[in-house]
Amino acid sequence: MNYGFSKLSIRDLELEGKHLFIRVDFNVPLKGGSVIDDTRIKAALPTLEMAAEKKACIVLASHLGRPGGKRQEEFSLRPVAHHLSSLMKQEIAFVVDCIGPEVEENVKTLQPGRLLLLENLRFHEGETKNDPDFSRKLGAWMEEYVNDAFGAAHRAHASTAGLPQILGRGAAGLLMEKELEYLSRVLLHPQHPVVAILGGAKVSDKMEVIENLLSLADVILIGGGMAFTFLKAQNKNIGKSIVEKDNLEFARDLMESAASHGVVLRFPVDSVIAQKREPGVQTRVAQADGIPEDWIGLDIGPRTVEEFKKEIWQAQTIIWNGPLGVFEIDGFADGTLAIARAVAESDALSVVGGGDSVSAVIKAGVQNEITHISTGGGASLEFLAGKTLPGVEILTDR
Ligand code: 3PG
Repeated sequence: MNYGFSKLSIRDLELEGKHLFIRVDFNVPLKGGSVIDDTRIKAALPTLEMAAEKKACIVLASHLGRPGGKRQEEFSLRPVAHHLSSLMKQEIAFVVDCIGPEVEENVKTLQPGRLLLLENLRFHEGETKNDPDFSRKLGAWMEEYVNDAFGAAHRAHASTAGLPQILGRGAAGLLMEKELEYLSRVLLHPQHPVVAILGGAKVSDKMEVIENLLSLADVILIGGGMAFTFLKAQNKNIGKSIVEKDNLEFARDLMESAASHGVVLRFPVDSVIAQKREPGVQTRVAQADGIPEDWIGLDIGPRTVEEFKKEIWQAQTIIWNGPLGVFEIDGFADGTLAIARAVAESDALSVVGGGDSVSAVIKAGVQNEITHISTGGGASLEFLAGKTLPGVEILTDR
């Protein structure tokens, strides 16, 4: 799965005067009609700048949210066009649909080096249904196709799978290449020791990732809500902490399987606990296996931070996905932020994925010290689970 080097790249394409469709992932948070986190937009800029330098007539398309196949104003990409105009220092044209006569008119008259952003692809149900007719309409006038939407590469949708098939070839954008290069590097040829840090609320989201990491990692540090399912599976007292009862058996099997693979699984030894998952409430530190009834574990405690740090500092490769506590609430953020700083201080090659862990890295102010921050949430998880990504598979081999 070392896709990054085997697929055709935008760098290989002769684009002067050609109509180029670029699938980007501009699925970004908006508030009051403005973009509040432009990480994904900025990450696509190298590809857009290269396409503009190569004098392509550039048509950008993305989804935003899950509007369910119908137009819903709150999911309009218009604010993104506005934001992109200020980043690119050129006016980005915006058209109120992604298919149809008005779009075609705008596409036809697009000048080399200029960009046009189409409206949200998911305003049409043909996008998520990978409807060939919708793909054909998207492809009207298009001569080349580039996919730079790593975040959507795990979706076999019309714009990620159907369209490159119809056009007969597709290339990877620079962001797509970079994502695949780093993720392939940590998954295929990692330097050991490999330490994986997994968090987030649910074990069910990470089952396949953990299973796949058993043949790769030396140590897996487990925090966040999902740790309590493992602690419960060992009959520990976890109070009212989140637990997935249906996954207790899976957690037990996994612990056995880790032992037979020689992988060290480490769980929190202490937790920051509270009676409510709310800002400003009283908190205490308790042994992770002795949380009183009516109390909830909401962050890893200081002893766990120290133990996890020791593992992190010995690592040559670090893979991190998922926060270790409810870091969006200040009283439960210290553990996750301390781990972010430890990852940043280590000399290891570090790859962080998943929207929440990326936000934690940004909140800790250490984003420049991480080797690679992935723009993909679900996509990076599927990659770490060892699955192939349809939006990458379909691209043309070199
Ligand atoms: C993401 O935010 O993970 C991607 O943009 C994919 O979005 P989706 O899960 O709605 O397909």
